[in-house]
Amino acid sequence: MSKTITGFSKLTKDAKINWLAKNFFNNTEDGILILKQYENKNEKLQRLHDEFIENTISNFYVPYAVAPNFIINGKPYVIPMAIEESSVVAAASLVAKFWSTRGGFKAKVISTLKVGQVHFMYTGSFKDLKIYFKKSKNDLLKITDPITANMRKRGGGIVNIELRDKTSKLDNYYQLHVTFETADSMGANFINSCLEAIATTFKNDEIKIVMSILSNYVPECLVHAEVSCKVEDFFDVEPEAYAQKFIQAIQIANVEPYRAVTHNKGIMNGIDAVVLATGNDFRAIAAGAHAYAAKSGIYKSLTNAKIKDGIFHFWIEIPLSLGTIGGLTKLHPLAKLSLEILQNPSAEELMQIIAVAGLSQNFAALKALTTTGIQQGHMKMHFMNILNQLEANLHEKEILIKDFEGKTVTHNAIADALHQLRIKKQR
Ligand code: MEV
Repeated sequence: MSKTITGFSKLTKDAKINWLAKNFFNNTEDGILILKQYENKNEKLQRLHDEFIENTISNFYVPYAVAPNFIINGKPYVIPMAIEESSVVAAASLVAKFWSTRGGFKAKVISTLKVGQVHFMYTGSFKDLKIYFKKSKNDLLKITDPITANMRKRGGGIVNIELRDKTSKLDNYYQLHVTFETADSMGANFINSCLEAIATTFKNDEIKIVMSILSNYVPECLVHAEVSCKVEDFFDVEPEAYAQKFIQAIQIANVEPYRAVTHNKGIMNGIDAVVLATGNDFRAIAAGAHAYAAKSGIYKSLTNAKIKDGIFHFWIEIPLSLGTIGGLTKLHPLAKLSLEILQNPSAEELMQIIAVAGLSQNFAALKALTTTGIQQGHMKMHFMNILNQLEANLHEKEILIKDFEGKTVTHNAIADALHQLRIKKQR
């Protein structure tokens, strides 16, 4: 038995699975069966997924759901979400309904600039480098002409190329800091192709290129989303006190990074779910959002709240680099369908929708945390996971769901109740 292999990628899918099964599965037949069960019976669809990445052996499902009743800038939306965490979609639906009777969400895009950099080393004088850059700038733009032609037709392209001296941070380190507009595409391939062409043209005997790559830090690709209502409409009992507590929860996140990370993680529950459902890159979005949260040098909340003139305001400001064309957005049939459900938004509209999804999750989390605590809702949603884990049948599920109405849900309590139910049945 060998746990290493050469030429794995050249094997057929079945040969890959057999090698894995022989060397790693506890039960060969069971393991193979699981992989086959998750394989799509539609050969064309399966091939499409196989070809997204290398060494595909099956599919890994994540639930795909929708949260209805969002009103954003007066327009109703149903928001598709791909996520495994039990409470996220339920929370989104509840929050959508709550704010739909309080004027809905307002959102606006602040800016859409994206960034890419050519990083290089240079030991000569900065003055000479500046002269060389000035002389080359037109050539740098010209070399990208064929790459940017289509993008320019869609209103995008290179906005600026700037030479930056970074030698105070790292000896001999300079960069070309390039800004882009990428219209309705996320633009990763476009940006990277432009940068590589620029680097090839810019380098000379003295300029040693280290790398050329887009940045996922996009503080100038920014969207703002908010809700507001009269303080008295915020909560049924003691609304002023609860609104204050809600604001304090955000203040705590702003001074306590341990709390801020969890606070923002909750926001990303909503954001990543829609990013994934629309075929966008959730790792890029998460990296950019967390970097933005730390832009002051201290990691803080991405949301904010205040009371002014008797009105409760709650808002988010977050960088989101998204596409509604290109990448997986039209290639993955479910991503395409998600965009259809969202009424085929532009990238800017999608930025607004996704910011709202993040704001909603934070609203649900803070409302629960500052009132009943989070576990009540979480365990309610987790209830079915526990029942499935304990292999409860349909009949047992029905009985236990009824039995636990209004009761505290814990894994042990459910296991005990199921055990009792089965004993009772045997008698
Ligand atoms: C859980 O996935 C997310 C929360 O922890 C977020 C928060 O604490 O604000 C509930």
